[in-house]
Order: sequence, then structure tokens, then C-alpha cells
Amino acid sequence: MLKKKSSYVMAILGATGAVGKETLEILDERKFPIAGLRLFASKRSAGGVLACQGKEWTVEELTPESSFAGIDIALISATDPISREYGERLGKSGIVVIDDSGVFRMDANVPLVVPEVNAQALSAMPRGIVSIPNCTTTPLVMALKPLQDTAGIKRVVVTTFQSVSGTGAAAMDELVTQTKDLMAFRDVKAAVYPYQIAFNLLPHIGSFNEQGDCSEEVKIANETRKILGSPTLRVTATTVRVPVLRCHSEAINVELHAPLKVNEARAALAAMPGVIVYDDPNRKLYPMPLDATGKDEVYIGRIREDPSVTNGLNLWVVSDNLRKGAALNAVQIAECLVNG
Ligand SMILES: NC(=O)c1ccc[n+]([C@@H]2O[C@H](COP(=O)([O-])OP(=O)(O)OC[C@H]3O[C@@H](n4cnc5c(N)ncnc54)[C@H](OP(=O)(O)O)[C@@H]3O)[C@@H](O)[C@H]2O)c1
Repeated sequence: MLKKKSSYVMAILGATGAVGKETLEILDERKFPIAGLRLFASKRSAGGVLACQGKEWTVEELTPESSFAGIDIALISATDPISREYGERLGKSGIVVIDDSGVFRMDANVPLVVPEVNAQALSAMPRGIVSIPNCTTTPLVMALKPLQDTAGIKRVVVTTFQSVSGTGAAAMDELVTQTKDLMAFRDVKAAVYPYQIAFNLLPHIGSFNEQGDCSEEVKIANETRKILGSPTLRVTATTVRVPVLRCHSEAINVELHAPLKVNEARAALAAMPGVIVYDDPNRKLYPMPLDATGKDEVYIGRIREDPSVTNGLNLWVVSDNLRKGAALNAVQIAECLVNG
């Protein structure tokens, strides 16, 4: 566990990526008590300089020989192999590891945490590692938690509309480049995704299993059950990549155990920390990715009854995947650990 100090030496593995850069901004904004900062990335970024809390920090190449002496907290937001290789090693050496990848999420000895929903899970970290959820699971459980507490949840059907930044910095570049090429009547090249993403959408995120589910769909179901502490909760997902730069949107259909009027659902959601209910169809007010970009809160709108099932509700949820879906959630976990 983390020893109480007035400030902490932090490391970010993957500091130059989409999530890593957002993490630096958030550590700055939230004045996280930093005594020192070590930034790691691949060879291609080594020697570069990134700013945080009024200082410039040089990026180091991450290698098996890298020394991590003196580091209190390591945030890993790089790749699955890097999480696998360094997560275990750093955790064993007494460094508190906050991991963004999917590698440890379903490990029974690793808590999977959204602080507003299950901060209590941080009390046991036997491997020295805590995972953050997938960037679609986090807003989903933020919306489900108050409904679970108020009326109990029987089944969840979710369709996601996920921005390209969920795949990382290279995918953001690909959307911009393809859009420019199309506007200039040039040929389009697809490298990150199997098909053109500009002016298109792909009903496919991750790899397919034998049943035809995408790995992202399986992650959402499993992670939601773990975080909500409901191992038998029925959850089904369809995940779609859309040509949006930032923010994931989700159409959520929930079947509740007990009746809940739309006004009661709205009140329960509005009382959830970190959630903003933005819902006035008469004034055409509903959350959109452009509104939620750069924001910390999870936005919920289009709250309405689903009369096709007993106790059914429909919701539309939008959240910035790089902030609450990744960097912010990780920094909030670090704050919970530091504040004890
Ligand atoms: N993007 C999201 O919305 C999101 C949400 C939740 C969780 N996550 C997870 O967060 C992690 C990072 O995602 P991202 O979107 O930030 O990806 P990204 O933009 O592609 O950034 C990847 C980072 O990892 C570094 N890296 C890659 N290969 C490396 C190597 N061999 N050695 C050292 N560093 C290496 C990169 O360094 P260079 O710049 O030098 O290549 C870069 O800093 C992933 O595990 C992802 O699953 C992402």
C-alpha cells in the first residue's frame, strides 16, 4: 500500500500517447502532489520534453534496464505487452501501479475501479495493481450505479458509438488525414483500422470470438458485472467505431427490477457525483461529443420510458474517453490512494 507522504514521485509509462498527454494535463489541473515525475515512452519519443506543473520533464526510453528506484506511483498507459511486462514487475517492487490496459482488469486480485462507484475496492490491492475499466464501461457504470441502487437492474442492452481517440493518437491522425484526402479527391489509405473510418463507421472493435462477439463487447459485459458487484447481471453490447475524434456515446436500454418513473430516474442520475443530466427534448438539449470534449463529467440525456418491457428505461450517455474514460479516472484513483 502507498505510504503517506506530502508529495509523491510519479511515473507515466506511455507519457507521449493520447492518454499519457491527457494525464499530464489532469495532474496539472488538479494540482496532484508531485515530488518528481518520470516520463517513459518508446525510443522514437526519447529525449522529447513534456510540461507539467510548470516544469519540463524529459521523456526516457522504456527498456528492460530502466530503473524505477524511488517511484511511488506508476501510471501505465501504453500497450498490453508493456502493461504485462512492467505492471507485474513494478507492483511486486512496492510501486503502486494504476494500469489503463485490459491486461489485469478481470484478475480477482486486481481491483477494477471507478471511484464514484466502487472506491471501496481499493482497500485490497494484493498485487500492488489497480486497473481502470475500458473507456465505455466507465460511463456505463456511472449511469447504472444510481439505477441499481434505486430500483435494481435486471438486464442491460448497450450500443456504443466510440470515437477514434479510443484507439490512440495514430487513429486520430488517420481520421484527420483520410478526411483531408477525401476532400482533395485523393486516394484514402487505411492503416490503423481495416477499412476507411472517415465518413464511415465500423461495427467492430477489437477481435472477434467464436460466437461473433467483439472483444470490446465482452469486456463491457464482464467489467460492468465486476464493478457493480453483480456477477450474474445480464449485459449485452454492440460496439461501433464512429468518425468522431473524441468522446464515446452510448445508447443504453435498462430493465429494472422495480418500477421507476422517468422523473425519479432523472433525480437519481442527477444526484450521482460526476454525472450531469442534460435532457430537455423540447429545447433540443441532449449530450453530444462536441459538448463533452474536454469535460470531466459523464453527460446523460434522452431519459425516457421503454414501454416494450416491464420497468424499461432508455438513456443516452456521452463522456470524454480520454478524460473520465482513461486519464481522469486513473488520477482520481491516485487521489483516493493518496488521501487514504
Ligand atoms: N485512448 C483511450 O480512450 C483509452 C481509454 C482507456 C484505456 N486506454 C488504454 O490506455 C493505453 C494507452 O492508450 P492510448 O490511446 O494513449 O495509446 P497511444 O496514443 O497509441 O499511446 C501509446 C503510448 O505507449 C507508448 N509505447 C508504445 N509502444 C512502446 C514501447 N515499445 N515502449 C515504450 N513505450 C511504448 C507510446 O510511445 P511513443 O509515442 O513513443 O510511440 C505512447 O506513449 C492502452 O493500454 C489503452 O488500452 C485508452
